[in-house]
Amino acid sequence: MLNFAVQIAREAGGLLMQHLGAAKITNKGDIDLVTEADVASENLIIERIRSYYPQHGILAEESGEAVLVGGKRSDWKWIIDPLDGTTNYAHGYPCFCVSIALEHEGVLEIGVVYDPVRDEMFAAERGKGATLNSRTIRVSEVDELNKAMVCTGFPYNVRERPNFAVDFTNFTMAAQAVRRDGSAAIDLAYVACGRFDGFWEDGLNPWDTAAGVLLIQEARGRVTNFDDQPLDIYTAKVLCSNGLIHDAMRAVLRQGPYGRL
Ligand code: IPD
Ligand code: CA
Ligand code: CA
Repeated sequence: MLNFAVQIAREAGGLLMQHLGAAKITNKGDIDLVTEADVASENLIIERIRSYYPQHGILAEESGEAVLVGGKRSDWKWIIDPLDGTTNYAHGYPCFCVSIALEHEGVLEIGVVYDPVRDEMFAAERGKGATLNSRTIRVSEVDELNKAMVCTGFPYNVRERPNFAVDFTNFTMAAQAVRRDGSAAIDLAYVACGRFDGFWEDGLNPWDTAAGVLLIQEARGRVTNFDDQPLDIYTAKVLCSNGLIHDAMRAVLRQGPYGRL
């Protein structure tokens, strides 16, 4: 099934590249976009899953959760973000990807993040490690926040959350560098392969995180919510790291305005 996920992620990524610069864009919300490419990529992935695994459930960003024929529930659920980094994509900023994960009885079994711009395929299977273009990847060994490059993202309702910048400011003061790349799935994959040492965001959805979470776990990193509990991908607050700077990142998230605890 990992090969199947890799294959459809590659196919969907190719489709995104074909539409790049030419996709029609519509607004879902004030600043929340959807492009023709999101929809085309999602349709392609769903069609492939339907024909190979017709009994499996699907949770996809643009079409929501599919109810199976006959109202039956499946133990298997594909969790799909057909284009993560839509705003980047719409502006021609080359940081976007396809994210596909497979859950069995609530446990993540497979995760694939494909960046078609760099032709980078991140893939993981529970218990079998994580790879980038077939080479094993591991999280970084940076063990101090002030030597770490961390990353974050801003959810679409950021304008209704004036406090979002507090954590950003506090991390800017505490870490060596902070990035905001606009594709949570790529950010998580980059933690898995050691390019980033940590990542946090409040406002994510399961399709943003499912594949990346398994990549980090299989690359021996750590993924929790902001309260240090194991992450439930159906909740919004995500903190992940190489494990070594996790507590320091949590401490920053607890600081609040003006660096006060
Ligand atoms: C978004 C990106 C972004 C993150 C947002 C997500 P989309 O997903 O992952 O980096 O900050 O919270 O919604 O809309 O580009 O698929
Ligand atoms: Ca997304
Ligand atoms: Ca998306």
